Amino acid sequence: MATSARRSADAADDWTIDQDWGAYTPAEHAIWDRLFARQSALLQGRAVAAFLNGLAVLQLGTPGIPNFEALSERLTALTGWRVVAVPGLVPDEVFFDHLAHRRFVAGRFIRRPDQIDYLQEPDVFHDLFGHVPLLADPVFADYMQAYGEGGLRAAKLGAIQRLARLYWHTVEFGLIRTDEGLRIYGAGIVSSHGESLYALEDPRPPRIGFDLKRVMRTRYRIDAFQTAYFVIGRFEDLLRQTLETDFAPLYGELEGLPDIGPGEVAPGDRLIGI
Ligand SMILES: [Fe+2]
Repeated sequence: MATSARRSADAADDWTIDQDWGAYTPAEHAIWDRLFARQSALLQGRAVAAFLNGLAVLQLGTPGIPNFEALSERLTALTGWRVVAVPGLVPDEVFFDHLAHRRFVAGRFIRRPDQIDYLQEPDVFHDLFGHVPLLADPVFADYMQAYGEGGLRAAKLGAIQRLARLYWHTVEFGLIRTDEGLRIYGAGIVSSHGESLYALEDPRPPRIGFDLKRVMRTRYRIDAFQTAYFVIGRFEDLLRQTLETDFAPLYGELEGLPDIGPGEVAPGDRLIGI
């Protein structure tokens, strides 16, 4: 998601474009296959079971960059979501509106071979491999729609930045507690080889129990691994809090509280061991 973007000439009013799947080169498909093989192997025992299940039921392991149409057919049958292509970053309200209508917007370009380990702008590997498997999970699928609806309300209240922090610390960089131990569910982590290891196994970043208010006070960095991670219990709790919280007074309350820096441990934080 993001702000200052310009709609390209071939984009529709909702910023969507044709994926133009036939235009991918064999070299581009090979980059997907290389990234997929490496991450799907690494994430066994590290990603939450719902993510790994999503990879399987959506057949994301089929060689080559997925065709959004075929993928959307499988996804719609499971949870009613679709994947649509956009030229890159889109304005926040466009992004929220798509989510509120169960459409996930994805970049269609794939990184170059020299960007295998890192690139700042989300490409089709980040967007599809990172985000779409959990959209096959009914509860997480509902959370993403609720987030989109909340985003549209936040835009009217001038509180997009607060809500963007919730997205960042859950959808992009969230960890979850399971009976088997901590697992990854954030798209920014699962699509990064280095951060998949760092987020779960490095002793340095604190893992902090999720608290909605705390998360919305927490700044983040976009140019390096996160310096702290927030840990949820279950997707059901995340969905319930998002649906049951009256965000309007909460945004007002947060105005009076200072931000918390990335990686900072605050009084009252629940620290979770690895
Ligand atoms: Fe993302």
